[in-house]
Amino acid sequence: MPEIVLKNITKRWGNFVGVDNLSMTIEDRAFITLLGPSGCGKTTTLRMIAGLETPTEGLITIDGVTVFDSDKGINLPPQKRDVGFLFQNYALWPHMTVYKNIAFGLENLKWKKPEIEERVDELCKMLKIEQFKQRYPSELSGGQQQRVAIARTLAPRPKVLFMDEPLSNLDAKLRLEMRTELKRLHVDTDSTFVYVTHDQLEAMTLATKVCLMETGVMQQYDPPLVTYSLPNNLFVADFVGNPTMNFLDAKAERDKNGKLRINMYGIEAEMQTEDVFEMPVKPEGEENAQSDVNVVVGVRPEFLEIGSSGIQAKVHATLPSGMETTVKIAYGEQIFTSVVFGGVDYAVDEQIKVSFRGNGILLFDKFTGKRLCSGALKLAK
Ligand SMILES: Nc1ncnc2c1ncn2[C@@H]1O[C@H](COP(=O)(O)OP(=O)(O)OP(=O)(O)O)[C@@H](O)[C@H]1O
Ligand SMILES: [Mg+2]
Repeated sequence: MPEIVLKNITKRWGNFVGVDNLSMTIEDRAFITLLGPSGCGKTTTLRMIAGLETPTEGLITIDGVTVFDSDKGINLPPQKRDVGFLFQNYALWPHMTVYKNIAFGLENLKWKKPEIEERVDELCKMLKIEQFKQRYPSELSGGQQQRVAIARTLAPRPKVLFMDEPLSNLDAKLRLEMRTELKRLHVDTDSTFVYVTHDQLEAMTLATKVCLMETGVMQQYDPPLVTYSLPNNLFVADFVGNPTMNFLDAKAERDKNGKLRINMYGIEAEMQTEDVFEMPVKPEGEENAQSDVNVVVGVRPEFLEIGSSGIQAKVHATLPSGMETTVKIAYGEQIFTSVVFGGVDYAVDEQIKVSFRGNGILLFDKFTGKRLCSGALKLAK
């Protein structure tokens, strides 16, 4: 089964490091998304697995077969890797009809005519392009062309399917529909999907596992909900989730009873956690820095509770969207975000009380950015 393994893959162009010592295993039939800001190395990674780009160093195996090994000088060409591609700049053949575009690859693979017809029909139905079969690409909208490209890629039932932002040309509604379709396709086709996107929502909703990268370095490789609730560091915490996580600078200290005392902008609280960690210390040279802040408290908007007790704060703005309401909360100079289920409408400057809900409050090391623990944050009485 086509498990894909990357070991210490690095891609350099001169002194510039595009992908830095990347190791990961893509399980058989996984739906992996490569996520990260522009230029972080997503496309490069995909192209290296597919065989379109040669890594500077490292080892790649697909289905137990070594397709690249810098030490042994192995480098299999893409056509020998049994993979399909779908890139952002999908190029349909302009002189061929939709039908022919999808059928062409199968003809080359010597499929029989009735089988080809059946497969093309099946795909056209699945992708809702049946009525365009006899049209030429120039007679289709961008979104329709993209669906033809998806059909063409899926036609030979590749074991591994690489997709680089394949939905980026579609309008919002079609994108959503195609996401659902892709998720179903993934199950129906039994293939392994490797999917590049810089859209965190797309990455989260589609993937069985998200690989989040920053400047060529993998930051986290976990199922979406793990990445969401237990981000490895501040970069991941900030990149994933919308509205974004609240970050509060704080001072953490263990008292003589071993309790973890947190002071955020003068607010006293206790962090209750099972996690074991070392208290962060200032890096060398900064010991004398003015601030005694050593941690960052991370609070997802849904864990910031507006209720009858807690910190006295003010409503900065209320943004109802129907199913949920985003409430911007002002505390001194700081603005925080809370999300409440359903429609509520607070007046601007209305006095409210805010507390921390649940066990998913996070503590990060201010200096390294690393997550220290997760737990409950109880306000001091
Ligand atoms: N042929 C090349 N020569 C030199 N640098 C390159 C080359 N190809 C890519 N790069 C650089 O490598 C880095 C990673 O590029 P890559 O295309 O993988 O980014 P990406 O994550 O796909 O970004 P985007 O979301 O914008 O598509 C970028 O900084 C890019 O400029
Ligand atoms: Mg790219």
